[in-house]
Amino acid sequence: MMFDAEKIRKDFPILDVHVNGKRLVYLDNAATTQKPKRVIDALVKYYSEENSNVHRGVHFLSDKATTLYENSRKTIAEFINAGKPEELIFVRGTTEAINLVASSYGEVSVGTGDEVIVSHLEHHSNIVPWQILCERKGASLKVIPVNDSGELDIEAYRKLLSSRTKIVAVNQISNSLGTVNPVREIIRQAHDAGAVVLIDGAQAVQHSNVDVRELDADFYAFSGHKMYGPTGIGILYGKEKLLDSMPPYQGGGDMIKNVSFEKTTYNELPYKFEAGTPDISGAIVLSEAVKYIKEIGIENIAGHERELLEYGTSKLSEIDGFRLVGNAKEKASVISFLLDGIHPYDTGAILDKTGIAVRTGLHCTEPLMKRFGIPGTVRASIAMYNTKEEIDALVNGVIKAKKMLS
Ligand code: ALA
Repeated sequence: MMFDAEKIRKDFPILDVHVNGKRLVYLDNAATTQKPKRVIDALVKYYSEENSNVHRGVHFLSDKATTLYENSRKTIAEFINAGKPEELIFVRGTTEAINLVASSYGEVSVGTGDEVIVSHLEHHSNIVPWQILCERKGASLKVIPVNDSGELDIEAYRKLLSSRTKIVAVNQISNSLGTVNPVREIIRQAHDAGAVVLIDGAQAVQHSNVDVRELDADFYAFSGHKMYGPTGIGILYGKEKLLDSMPPYQGGGDMIKNVSFEKTTYNELPYKFEAGTPDISGAIVLSEAVKYIKEIGIENIAGHERELLEYGTSKLSEIDGFRLVGNAKEKASVISFLLDGIHPYDTGAILDKTGIAVRTGLHCTEPLMKRFGIPGTVRASIAMYNTKEEIDALVNGVIKAKKMLS
């Protein structure tokens, strides 16, 4: 299929919105993506025609909702090439997925004196749950350093690994800088040291082909809303053997086999980790987003975004006083930058006046911003529906911001 961003844009109703009298230029896709009409329609259809609770009734609608919910799990499992759908747990998002692993797998695998490794590039959601675990267990958190380009120091990582390392948790693509991390290598080395690895794929599944088995990831987490799906739904993938060995994360309905006051037994995978009524509509609609991505083709999306990333980086770099933060050799879809002497919030506010949506600030990566000694950045993040004209609008907006604020 020929990639046609203009045609794709027509699938996203919100892209016609005007902001401050200007046509919206949405470049805050790493925070959340917009939704195609078919995803929105699937949500309306669910509540208009299919709504019921799952796994709980013999009636027609309950059976229908259950089938749709479980079919969605299958579609998403195929998308990341999981061994079986049962290895996918529906969660609220990447944050909940990481907390589940830290809390449950961490409980049985980490003890006093053990170590957990994260990287300096992590989002707070892939730092704080491990800090809580380490504090609870008397374990320590080790950090893989980054170089000035925003790349992980793999040699330093090798030295951090030891028999004390129980868990390594890193992102595949950095939300702040767009660095693509060598996760296959990171996983291989962790396994050699006897550790398991959680990959935060929140910024990866929508930009690149993810094959959890090829990566040999033990756990892989991602969010629906960053991949053209709804908010409040995400996936934790885990190898069956690991998930089976873990205690439940939350107690409640559906996660049990039998309950008595003397002894309760737990349900099989994946239900053991899905206590209470789940986000049924979110889970079902997420598969619609996955089907949409598959139809467009992840390679086509990645190619288009790469072109815009290179074009935008080169055009913006021509601006006097423009400083790119993060220039890793392998990058995806994020341009993080500063203008000399200008606070990122001020640049963001001027861009907003011209209808351009970017994120400014720490991007939930305070340690990384400290590492670079900066108060944050302006971050333009690209999705499949962005165009060269929008990148030109960003460049003009940045020039304007510079003139007004210098
Ligand atoms: N994690 C999201 C971001 O990077 C919210 O903006």
